[in-house]
Amino acid sequence: MKHKYLILLLAGTVLLLATGVRGQHEDIPYQPVTNICQTCLCLSSQDSGHRTHFDLDCSVRSFEHILARWPEEFGSQAMAAGASSEIVASFSGNRIRLLQQLPATNASLTLSCRHCGLQELQTPLFMDVPNVEALYLSWNELSDDALVPDLFRGPFRNTRYEPIGLRDLDLSHNRIARLDRRLFEHTPHLTKLNLAYNKLAVLDEATTAAVASVATLERMDLSHNGLMSLPAGLFPKLQSLRVLDVSGNEFTVVPASLQQLANSLVQLNLAANAFSSFKENSFQGLVSLKRLNISGMPSLRIVEWGALKLSALEQLDCSRNSKLERLEMADLLGSRNLSQLDLSRNALTTLALNVSSNASSAAPWPRLRRLNIVDNPWYCSCDLFKTLELTGLAHIERETDGTEARCETPYLLAGSVLSNLTAERICKMVIPKKYREVEEEPPRFLRRRYIILTAIIASVVLVIGLVIGFVVACVRRRLKGSDYGVQPIRYTSVRGSNLSQFSQLQPASVASKFSSVHAGGSSGATTGAANA
Ligand SMILES: *[C@@H]1O[C@H](CO)[C@@H](O)[C@H](O)[C@H]1NC(C)=O
Ligand SMILES: *[C@@H]1O[C@H](CO)[C@@H](O)[C@H](O)[C@H]1NC(C)=O
Ligand SMILES: *[C@@H]1O[C@H](CO)[C@@H](O)[C@H](O)[C@H]1NC(C)=O
Ligand SMILES: *[C@@H]1O[C@H](CO)[C@@H](O)[C@H](O)[C@H]1NC(C)=O
Ligand SMILES: *[C@@H]1O[C@H](CO)[C@@H](O)[C@H](O)[C@H]1NC(C)=O
Ligand SMILES: *[C@@H]1O[C@H](CO)[C@@H](O)[C@H](O)[C@H]1NC(C)=O
Repeated sequence: MKHKYLILLLAGTVLLLATGVRGQHEDIPYQPVTNICQTCLCLSSQDSGHRTHFDLDCSVRSFEHILARWPEEFGSQAMAAGASSEIVASFSGNRIRLLQQLPATNASLTLSCRHCGLQELQTPLFMDVPNVEALYLSWNELSDDALVPDLFRGPFRNTRYEPIGLRDLDLSHNRIARLDRRLFEHTPHLTKLNLAYNKLAVLDEATTAAVASVATLERMDLSHNGLMSLPAGLFPKLQSLRVLDVSGNEFTVVPASLQQLANSLVQLNLAANAFSSFKENSFQGLVSLKRLNISGMPSLRIVEWGALKLSALEQLDCSRNSKLERLEMADLLGSRNLSQLDLSRNALTTLALNVSSNASSAAPWPRLRRLNIVDNPWYCSCDLFKTLELTGLAHIERETDGTEARCETPYLLAGSVLSNLTAERICKMVIPKKYREVEEEPPRFLRRRYIILTAIIASVVLVIGLVIGFVVACVRRRLKGSDYGVQPIRYTSVRGSNLSQFSQLQPASVASKFSSVHAGGSSGATTGAANA
């Protein structure tokens, strides 16, 4: 008897637990799982290390919910096996407004639901998926309310919620304006965080605290948020942060807080910000920086002397800064490992390297492989060519469409392809201050002269036309006027009246002129009076 009760009690507990697991959204249906592999794409494979991979592709299937269980095809054993198996599941491109609690598995999981129209996330999401590895929820409609700390809590064991294994979280292209300060308390392994294209224009105290707490963070993307500064409290604990993207924001000065990343930061993207200059101390202390991107800045005019003294630098993208007129190449002499340098599409006219002649035998950048300098208004001087030759003319790239760097000035060399010229030739060349007009092509000023000449001729013709028109009008008016002047006389002279009647039938009346003459001397005075 006792035995039976015990079993009943046990069954009851299991039932209770089972319902508890499903939580508050139990009423919401899931997508039916039976024969799901006929609707979605299911793949499984095994790699050399005896890890089993399961691929579940349910993207763009007009689903409104995710699955309640993993497909039977994946086998229940594998699901329990822990980190030795891996599931990659995609629900992207469906209409899933609420992301429900994920079906249980101990396998490591990568889940994407991009372009899902997500507005809500069920809490907790990962209670039965402690080994979730990556979560890609970009291009949704998630706002601040959807992101609560309990979202990420793992299974409850002993007295607390276990942490989950999440490493990679993509929340870009959503509507996030601030984060809960405890948002990442259950994700102690987070290494990659993408918050690009959100509304984090100001990192308030809570948001800063949330991000600052993720000491394991290695890569962070805060691009395109309207940020103007990064608070001092953001980085002190992030001593593993290697890659930071803050492009497409509103920065005008390099945030001083970046110096706290001196030892870790390897890659920094500052492209498309509102900088007008970089100062001597802008990148002070960034001794590990290997890749720097300062491209696409419409107001950048000058990179001051000393700004680019970055000893570890290997890749510099300083292109598409349409107003950039000055950049000190000499700063880069300290970056011996420089391998890629993009200076295309700026407003640079020259590059100067003050290398003493005895040092010039050794190349300053032995590892340089790619140098792009197209689309600058180059002034092809001896200095420029010495610098380029030292840098290695051979590395100068042409664009994939065949565009090459060309001289804009001096006039003698305008349009010449840089790679067709040598320092030897340029330095020997005497560039005349004034040069003879070349016949090949009409120079601009000549064309302008033509235009002026044409304009003058046109206006002269116009004036003559007007004068002639005016004279004709005057004459006509005068003739008409004398016609009117006659009128009073019509009453005095039968003959005159006859003539004026006649003149009405005739074109431009020469007759009327006669009539006024016939009318006698007094009529002249009358005409004058009538005209006046
Ligand atoms: C995951 O592993 C734990 C023990 O490590 C086990 O209790 C649980 O049932 C497993 N989960 C699944 C879905 O198999
Ligand atoms: C620099 O950043 C811009 C904008 O984010 C990007 O288009 C460009 O490819 C980046 N350059 C490099 C070398 O990665
Ligand atoms: C240049 O690269 C080499 C090998 O990759 C490395 O050992 C060296 O420290 C680098 N130099 C600087 C200044 O970072
Ligand atoms: C280069 O050297 C010349 C003298 O040799 C000096 O006048 C000039 O200021 C130097 N330019 C730079 C950028 O150091
Ligand atoms: C090279 O220039 C340095 C100064 O920059 C000078 O001290 C040195 O003597 C020069 N070496 C030779 C071989 O001319
Ligand atoms: C560059 O030089 C080559 C050979 O000297 C010549 O064929 C080519 O037309 C030149 N290119 C231009 C744009 O002048």
